[in-house]
Amino acid sequence: MLNSLSFNTGGDMLNAFKQFGFRQSVAVAIAAVGVACSAPSFAQGAAKAAAKGAGAAAPTEIVGNAQAGAKKNSACIGCHGIPEYRTAFPVTYRVPKIAGQSEKYLESALKAYRSGERPHPSMKGIATTLTDQDIADLSAFYAGKN
Ligand code: HEC
Repeated sequence: MLNSLSFNTGGDMLNAFKQFGFRQSVAVAIAAVGVACSAPSFAQGAAKAAAKGAGAAAPTEIVGNAQAGAKKNSACIGCHGIPEYRTAFPVTYRVPKIAGQSEKYLESALKAYRSGERPHPSMKGIATTLTDQDIADLSAFYAGKN
């Protein structure tokens, strides 16, 4: 049953090759792979390719990837990921809730800490270690989180 099914599929593929010729079939296969790619990683790949080609990417070419942001937030959860948003060290103080805020707002806040426009010392220290891509990824991640 299963064998005949896969055989039929194989036969269809073979017919497709015969009908459309090899080149068109390859083009169809490539298109199918493109569609199968998840949109964010596809967009990020395109942004990376653009960055490579241009040497330095313009800010508008950077696309935030929430999945990548989830892997970069280990430096943030110590302060922003705790209940009640209070840090415990060195003294207890409140930290703003960043999850669920708008992506653009988070991005501009982080860039303001990085440039010194916002003066908070610990956030500035952290933000200066972030690239534009890190900021975009982290903003996408926190914007999509509750
Ligand atoms: C040492 C604790 C600490 C760490 C670690 C930390 N933050 Fe913060 N963060 C703060 C505090 C405190 C503020 C509020 C600063 C102020 O008053 O401007 C803040 C503010 C922010 C804001 C602005 C929020 C708003 O409502 O305007 C953003 C965005 C932010 N942090 C993102 C991050 C990200 C992303 C990371 C990880 C890369 C991170 N923070 C790591 C303590 C921390």
